[in-house]
Amino acid sequence: SVTLPSAHLLLDWYDRHRRVLPWRSGPDQSADPYHVWLSEIMLQQTTVKAVGPYYHRFLEKFPTVNALAAAERDDVLAAWAGLGYYSRARNLHACAQQVVQLGGFPRTVEGLRALPGIGAYTAAAVAAIAFGVPVVPVDGNVERITARLFAVQEPLPAARKALGQLGASLNADKEAKARPSDFAQALFDLGASLCSPRSPACGLCPWQSGCAGYKAGLAETLPRRAPK
Ligand code: ADE
Repeated sequence: SVTLPSAHLLLDWYDRHRRVLPWRSGPDQSADPYHVWLSEIMLQQTTVKAVGPYYHRFLEKFPTVNALAAAERDDVLAAWAGLGYYSRARNLHACAQQVVQLGGFPRTVEGLRALPGIGAYTAAAVAAIAFGVPVVPVDGNVERITARLFAVQEPLPAARKALGQLGASLNADKEAKARPSDFAQALFDLGASLCSPRSPACGLCPWQSGCAGYKAGLAETLPRRAPK
């Protein structure tokens, strides 16, 4: 059994330091599922910084999921040009068409997971950010944070399953479950800023006191990777 760090400390840090990103909604609007979904697909293999201009241009061209579904495939691929991984664009188009047929985005993880191009991570991200479902999307950032918090020394990729389970449990407390979108995005921001891969800023981290990796002096060495 493990002790979870306090969600309150992370959310309080996020309230003070959250990044302004194009697909983030203001404090009391709910996020548009089309915007959240599009940004998550773009962010799968492309950095936050590189995605920004593509995201805006894409939305100018296809302002709604209906517009995207009705577009010619070649126009969708052209709007994707530069982002690479064209299978993502083909899946995006197919997914938009299914969403229109369904009358909107499914609001559950399982419903989202059944759509083209949506894996476990993206389903959880859209469910949490757009629909307030209390789930933790576990990406590379959340894996790293989790490996450090619990001082998981087993290397990746073998540790992936354990890190996924521990990561998914990070929202166990009430405060995290009350703010699923903010909690997910707080983890992304922590992973992108303080809990960075090479030189984590543990001195500034809201979770320092609960971090087993920090306590053991191992933070920057985790997660381990099996030699290729
Ligand atoms: N990486 C993946 N999804 C993200 C999000 N919503 N905000 C910041 N970084 C992300």
